Amino acid sequence: MRLWFVLPIVLTLSAAHQDAPCAACHKAQTDKYYGHVGQHGSSMARALYSVAEAEILEKNPKLAFQLGKYSYSIQRRGKESVYTVTDGKSRLDLDLKFAFGQGAAGQTYVFEHNGQLYESRVSFYKEIGRLDLTMGAPPGEPRNIVEAAGREMTPKDVTACFACHTTNSIEKGLVNFNALRAGVGCENCHGSARKHLEAFQSGNVKAAAMPKLANWSAEEQSEACGRCHRTWADIATSGPLGLHNVRFQPYRLANSKCYDSVDRRIACSGCHDVHAPLEKNIAAYDTKCTACHAATSSAKKTCPKAQSNCASCHMPRFEIPGSHHQFTDHMIRIVRKNETYPN
Ligand code: HEC
Ligand code: HEC
Ligand code: HEC
Ligand code: HEC
Ligand code: HEC
Ligand code: HEC
Ligand code: HEC
Repeated sequence: MRLWFVLPIVLTLSAAHQDAPCAACHKAQTDKYYGHVGQHGSSMARALYSVAEAEILEKNPKLAFQLGKYSYSIQRRGKESVYTVTDGKSRLDLDLKFAFGQGAAGQTYVFEHNGQLYESRVSFYKEIGRLDLTMGAPPGEPRNIVEAAGREMTPKDVTACFACHTTNSIEKGLVNFNALRAGVGCENCHGSARKHLEAFQSGNVKAAAMPKLANWSAEEQSEACGRCHRTWADIATSGPLGLHNVRFQPYRLANSKCYDSVDRRIACSGCHDVHAPLEKNIAAYDTKCTACHAATSSAKKTCPKAQSNCASCHMPRFEIPGSHHQFTDHMIRIVRKNETYPN
């Protein structure tokens, strides 16, 4: 089946450009979220790149990788990147269209072949600085050169990927590639700000009200972030079990003794500034823990072992096999020697 859409040759601008009008009044959120030159912004804002703008492909103009009998390469030609797959007998040269992610856990490419979209079988991993098998790629030996290049995406896959990695791009359950806004922009979390903006433009400030997300409880926030990061119910009902679920923070957090569905100190935004890049200094999270774990606070238990870097012991990191990336376990707990990973 051919998809109904035609991919535009020039992609529309990133969400950062389109949210520029918001910056006039919301500089605090916008500057942190997108960064001044797009280098230091949050990774959510950059969850998708057009190939023309993909920094990783610019900085690595010649990537090569051998997997079984197949040789892979991605070569930069100006603003384009050509993905080549060959087994010595047959060969495919494909123009990459989209780059998903920053590459911390992997950057995966989407290309078009005979009117269908495919997910590349190899991805770039920052940790190792090269290509490797895409996480979750179909197991086993590909049956032909097309399968070796990638996995054909169903229309449902296409909608799902873009719904989580772009903003305002889904119309009637399908991706509108002409309206594509790369990355998770303001309106993905806050809902449409069209009336809000128009109200200010027409001076009708009363009509400008936006829902106040700071009123959300921990549970409401877990549900909202869980639309993409997966909710407790998503994982509890359909898995995965074991180490593979460490990347689903709302699920892990809810299984922790610290979790309280109404207490905002344990909401995602209790620890994370949702408008800023991820804080990498573990000690910066200490005050989030001691907000509850102090002799004077609600959770009276304090630590007999240490007074700082709490998360380094109580939120251990795990590498999902094949991800080349360590995820932080949000099931906060006392980690016992030789424990098996608690589901
Ligand atoms: C529309 C989907 C979507 C929603 C809603 C969403 N996220 Fe994300 N988030 C992503 C994607 C996709 C990434 C990965 C970005 C990348 O690396 O390419 C991400 C990455 C992150 C990261 C950074 C990880 C890193 O290693 O830098 C944090 C922290 C985060 N999200 C927290 C939240 C919180 C908190 C909420 C709710 C307030 C939320 N997210 C809601 C899609 C979403
Ligand atoms: C339900 C929402 C959702 C869907 C559907 C989804 N993603 Fe993601 N994706 C996320 C979130 C959230 C993250 C960040 C957390 C993580 O790494 O698990 C992420 C991370 C990634 C990363 C790693 C980013 C990095 O910087 O390391 C890649 C690559 C990626 N997604 C590609 C895809 C592709 C390709 C598809 C479609 C086949 C897809 N995703 C479908 C939500 C989603
Ligand atoms: C990943 C989801 C997400 C994205 C994307 C996002 N916000 Fe927010 N925003 C939130 C949440 C959650 C809160 C409430 C924070 C809290 O709990 O204190 C919030 C709060 C706010 C507030 C109220 C002040 C505050 O900090 O509490 C403003 C203003 C705001 N956001 C503007 C923006 C703008 C402008 C953008 C785009 C540059 C944006 N947001 C992108 C989730 C998001
Ligand atoms: C002319 C100035 C102006 C512009 C432009 C503007 N806003 Fe606002 N915005 C405000 C003011 C003032 C408030 C506080 C109103 C209130 O408290 O009800 C606000 C409140 C918000 C909130 C509510 C945050 C919360 O949870 O309390 C969000 C979200 C928001 N704006 C997003 C946006 C987005 C997205 C854009 C761009 C599409 C935008 N705004 C453009 C002035 C502006
Ligand atoms: C009690 C504090 C705390 C809460 C609450 C919390 N996080 Fe985190 N989160 C952390 C710490 C600490 C890290 C690791 C930061 C680093 O990389 O050094 C982290 C990392 C992450 C990452 C990066 C990927 C990874 O696994 O390392 C994502 C995405 C994320 N959190 C999402 C969320 C979401 C979504 C919620 C709400 C369901 C949430 N967090 C609630 C403390 C918290
Ligand atoms: C919303 C308040 C709150 C926050 C924030 C919070 N906790 Fe807790 N935590 C609790 C409660 C309540 C318990 C249950 C036992 C108790 O009353 O102390 C608990 C239990 C624990 C336990 C014992 C778990 C076990 O396996 O027996 C540890 C360890 C812990 N928390 C560490 C942390 C760390 C580290 C942080 C920050 C990353 C943190 N907590 C953030 C409320 C919180
Ligand atoms: C060096 C690793 C380490 C660091 C850092 C650390 N802890 Fe602990 N923590 C432990 C261990 C191990 C235990 C279990 C002690 C035992 O049961 O003998 C524990 C126990 C706890 C308990 C349960 C106490 C009880 O009475 O049941 C809480 C709560 C706690 N830690 C919170 C914190 C907080 C908050 C911080 C940061 C201020 C922190 N921890 C820093 C290793 C650490």
